[in-house]
Amino acid sequence: MQAYGKSFAKVYNLMWTGFARQVAPFLLDFYAATQPGQENKPVLDLCCGTAHLAVCFLEKGYRVVGLDLSEHMLHHARENARQYIEAGKATFIQGDARNFKMDERFGLVVSMYDSLNHLEDEAALLNCFQCVYEVSEGYFIFDLNTRLGLRRWNNILVDDSDEEVLILNRGVFDEQSERAWLKISGFLRLPNGLYERFEETVFNTAFKMEKVKQALLEVGWKTVYFARLQDLKAPIEEPELEGRVFVVASKV
Ligand SMILES: C[S@@+](CC[C@H](N)C(=O)[O-])C[C@H]1O[C@@H](n2cnc3c(N)ncnc32)[C@H](O)[C@@H]1O
Repeated sequence: MQAYGKSFAKVYNLMWTGFARQVAPFLLDFYAATQPGQENKPVLDLCCGTAHLAVCFLEKGYRVVGLDLSEHMLHHARENARQYIEAGKATFIQGDARNFKMDERFGLVVSMYDSLNHLEDEAALLNCFQCVYEVSEGYFIFDLNTRLGLRRWNNILVDDSDEEVLILNRGVFDEQSERAWLKISGFLRLPNGLYERFEETVFNTAFKMEKVKQALLEVGWKTVYFARLQDLKAPIEEPELEGRVFVVASKV
C-alpha cells in the first residue's frame, strides 16, 4: 500500500505538477484521434494524485473520474478540480487500483507518473489490468519506469533551488528484489515563515516489459504495444532500453 501521506501530499501538489503538464498534450492528441475520444466518452485517471492531469482533460470538455488510494492526495485533487466537481463533470473517489469496480464506462483510462510501478508484484498488476478491462470501452495508457530507469534511482539528490522548499531524495535499486526505494524528505515553508518537515518512502517495482504485455493480453486486451511519449501511436521494439515507457492497450 502506498497511499501518500498528508505532509507529502501538500508538497506533491506544489512541486510535482510538471509531469502531468508534460504528458497531457500527447494524451489529449492521442485520445482526440480515437473514436471514443470523438464520442466524448469519459476518462478515468487511475492513481490520479492531485488531479493536475485530470484538470487538463476537464479543460477540454471530457468528464473525468479520478481514483486514488490516498485521501490526502484526493483532498488536493478536489480543491484543484472544484469548479468541475460542482458542474458535475468530475468525481474523485478513494479506491485501490488493484481492486475496484465502477458502473461507469470509460473511453480512456490513464495512469501516469509511474503510478503502476507502485504495485508490489505481477499478481497485483494483473488484478489492476482486470479491473481496468471491466470499466474500459477503448484505450488504457500508462507509463512505467523500466529496470534501466529504476537503476538511476541509485542516487542522492538535494534540491535547494526553491526558497520555499528543500527536497532531499535518497534512492536505491535492489537488484535482488527488483525494487527501487526512494526516501523523499525535506522542509516546506509555511505562510507564517516556519518550516514544516515532510517525509515519504516509496517503492517502484521493476516489472519485466514482456510480462506486462503478456498479462494485458491474458486479461483480454486486443492490442498492446510500448511507445514513447512523443509518439504514442508508434510501437517501439525494445522497451527495456528506455528509462520510461508508455504502454498502450486497446480493447477496440
Ligand atoms: C507518483 S504519484 C502520481 C500521481 C498522478 N498520477 C500524477 O501524474 O501526478 C502516485 C499516486 O498513486 C497513488 N497510489 C499508490 N498506490 C495506489 C493504489 N494501489 N491504488 C490507487 N492509488 C495508488 C498514490 O497515492 C499517488 O497519488
